[in-house]
Amino acid sequence: MIVLGVIAAVIGTVAVLFIDWFPESADTAAGSVDRLYDVLLIFSVPIFVLVMAVAIYSVVRFRARPGDMGDGAPIHGNTRLEIFWVTVPFLIVAGLSVYGWFVLDDIEVKKPNTMVVNVTAQQFAWKFDYPREKVKSDDLVLAANRPVEFRLHTKDVLHSFWVPEFRLKSDIVPGITTKVRLTPNKPGHWNVVCAELCGLGHATMRQDVIVLRRTAFDAWIKKKSGDGQGTTASGQGAAADGKAAFASNGCGSCHTFKAANASGSVGPDLDKLKAVAAKREKGKSAEAYVREAITEPRAFKVKGFPNVMPTTFKKDIPPKQLDALIQYLLDEGQSK
Ligand code: CUA
Repeated sequence: MIVLGVIAAVIGTVAVLFIDWFPESADTAAGSVDRLYDVLLIFSVPIFVLVMAVAIYSVVRFRARPGDMGDGAPIHGNTRLEIFWVTVPFLIVAGLSVYGWFVLDDIEVKKPNTMVVNVTAQQFAWKFDYPREKVKSDDLVLAANRPVEFRLHTKDVLHSFWVPEFRLKSDIVPGITTKVRLTPNKPGHWNVVCAELCGLGHATMRQDVIVLRRTAFDAWIKKKSGDGQGTTASGQGAAADGKAAFASNGCGSCHTFKAANASGSVGPDLDKLKAVAAKREKGKSAEAYVREAITEPRAFKVKGFPNVMPTTFKKDIPPKQLDALIQYLLDEGQSK
């Protein structure tokens, strides 16, 4: 039985190490995190397979047969065996924790020339701002080989900051600032995703991560800090401002709006907004209706949709941006 279990454990471990578990690596921490995972597999898989092989064998081999009514022999403990099965797991778990601590400590060490990026999570969008560079962005743009410290904030509920190619992940908790330090080391294009179930639009909480070479990054910063707020396309007309406001406030995560290429289904289809606004409001203008729907979302009930629209927009969207957004929604809607 033991021989069978050991053979199964060896086969299981070899099989599991042949599987490529990890996505592409794009930061300096990925190597040590992947190695840590492999070590965890090397310890846990053989134990799991051994125990299961012995259990399955025992169930088949020692099962009760018809007419076989007697109890097994009574056993009252076995001190040597108990010491063994307490000590060995304790040593394994303690060893792995110390190893994990060393890996984390190494990843979190402060490095010179670190760039700070404030990450703000909100149902259901990310915003990034670079306090020293005075730049705001909807995409997470980073420089290859420059260390970054992410300071994570949330406006509403728990979210979790995760770029699988960077491996590291951190919860974002209301009321406190959590941090992640890493150094991207490969130019490319990935996604930042939310890894904490945060509401109906959780699955849509996904934005671009772009890692640029140093010179391209510097050019991006220069361009971004050139256009004022960095997110609103001020000076390009109301339609462009409205479109920028739609994008930067994450409206498309939840709503469909063809003009903005948005196809969210968490909230009502905004292409129908104009018709609804015209029908609903007798004394009030369509403009006032849309404004209220954005700033006082709880005052509305739309059939078929739970009301999960964030209530933070009243505070967060500057008046000019809000005007542009309302105009954009009313002008660009595509329903007949
Ligand atoms: Cu934010 Cu899930």
